[in-house]
Amino acid sequence: MGESTDVRPVQTPATRRLPAVQLAGACDRFLLSNGVEIPCLGFGTYMVPPDERGARSIRFALDRGLRHIDTATSYKNEHVVGEVIRDSGIPRSEIFITSKLNNPDQGAEAARAAFDRTLSWLQVDYLDLYLIHWPRVAGWEDVWEERIAETWRVFEELHRSGRIRAIGVSNFLVHHLEALVSRADIAPMVDQIEHNPGYQQRDTVAWCERNGVQLEAWGPLGRGRLMGHPVIREIAASHGKDPGQVCVRYALQKGFVTMPKSNRVERIRSNADVFDFALSEDEIAALDALDTEDGYTFHPDRLDEWAERVARAHAESGVA
Ligand SMILES: NC(=O)c1ccc[n+]([C@@H]2O[C@H](COP(=O)([O-])OP(=O)(O)OC[C@H]3O[C@@H](n4cnc5c(N)ncnc54)[C@H](OP(=O)(O)O)[C@@H]3O)[C@@H](O)[C@H]2O)c1
Repeated sequence: MGESTDVRPVQTPATRRLPAVQLAGACDRFLLSNGVEIPCLGFGTYMVPPDERGARSIRFALDRGLRHIDTATSYKNEHVVGEVIRDSGIPRSEIFITSKLNNPDQGAEAARAAFDRTLSWLQVDYLDLYLIHWPRVAGWEDVWEERIAETWRVFEELHRSGRIRAIGVSNFLVHHLEALVSRADIAPMVDQIEHNPGYQQRDTVAWCERNGVQLEAWGPLGRGRLMGHPVIREIAASHGKDPGQVCVRYALQKGFVTMPKSNRVERIRSNADVFDFALSEDEIAALDALDTEDGYTFHPDRLDEWAERVARAHAESGVA
C-alpha cells in the first residue's frame, strides 16, 4: 500500500471530535471510530512501582477525578491497578482501562493467554482498550508484518466477542500501520505514540488523522525533559500555569488523548489541572516550532538502542 493510500474504511461512522478548546474536564471524551468514548486525560503508569507507593499514586489519580488508567503488562503493575480500582468503590463502567500486549506475547496462542492473564491481574472481565505495544519485536524483526497480523486477528476476535471494547496499536509509524491495515478486517481505533512539543511525529499524526485513528500522546512532558524549556516556561508563566500543564494542554488541544505520569501527588494534581485555560493559536504555533527529528525515547525501528535507553530511563526515573 502506497504512503498516500487511505486504509480500508473502519466499520463505523467517521470519527467525531469534541472541539478540543472547549474541553472542560478530565472526563470529557473523544469518540473512537467504533463509537466508544474515551476520557481525554488519563493517568500513565509506566514506572509506577508495583508497591504501596505506586498504589498511592493510582489512588490519588482516581481521587482527583481521573477515570482513565493506562497500564501495560510490561509495566508489571497491572495487579496494583486492579487492586486500587477494586478497592476504590468506583463502578467498573466508570473507569476506562487500557492495557498493552507485551512484546514476547505476540502471536495467536500467546496473545490469547496474555490477554486472560491481564484480565485476571486487573480483576476485570473486559478491557476498554487493548493495544499491541510495539510493532517490531526482538526475534521477529524480519517477519514483523506477519507477526502483528497474526496477533491482530486475536485482537479482532476478542473485540468481536465483547471482551475488549476498542482495539488499537502503539508506536506504529506509517509503514507499520499500512502493513497492519492491509492485512486486517478491523482498522485500529487508536495509535498511542510518543508525542510532545519536542517530538511530533507529523507523518504518523497526519496518517492517523486522515484515517480516523485516534491518537494518544505518551511522554507528553517529554518525560520531564521539556520542563525547563524557555519557550514552554514563558507560555506557562503568561497563563499562571506550570510547564507540565502547558504540555498536557498542548496534547489535548491537538486532539490527542494523553496520560502524564507522576509518582508525586502534587504533580498528579497539577498535571490534571488543565481545564481552566487555553493556549492561543500563536502559542500552539510556538510549541509546534519546537519539533525535532530525534527527540524520541525509544524508536520503534531501532531496537538495537533499546537496552541502553531502557537502562537510562530506569536510572532517571529512580524506579528499579
Ligand atoms: N506506548 C508506549 O510504548 C509508552 C511508552 C512510554 C509511556 N507510555 C505511557 O504514557 C505515560 C506517560 O509517559 P511517560 O511516563 O513516559 O512520560 P511523561 O508523562 O512525559 O513524564 C513522566 C516523567 O516526568 C516527571 N514529571 C511528571 N509530572 C511532572 C511535572 N509536572 N513537572 C516535572 N516533571 C514531571 C515524572 O517524574 P515523577 O514521577 O517523579 O513526578 C516522570 O519522570 C506512561 O506512564 C505510560 O502510561 C506508553
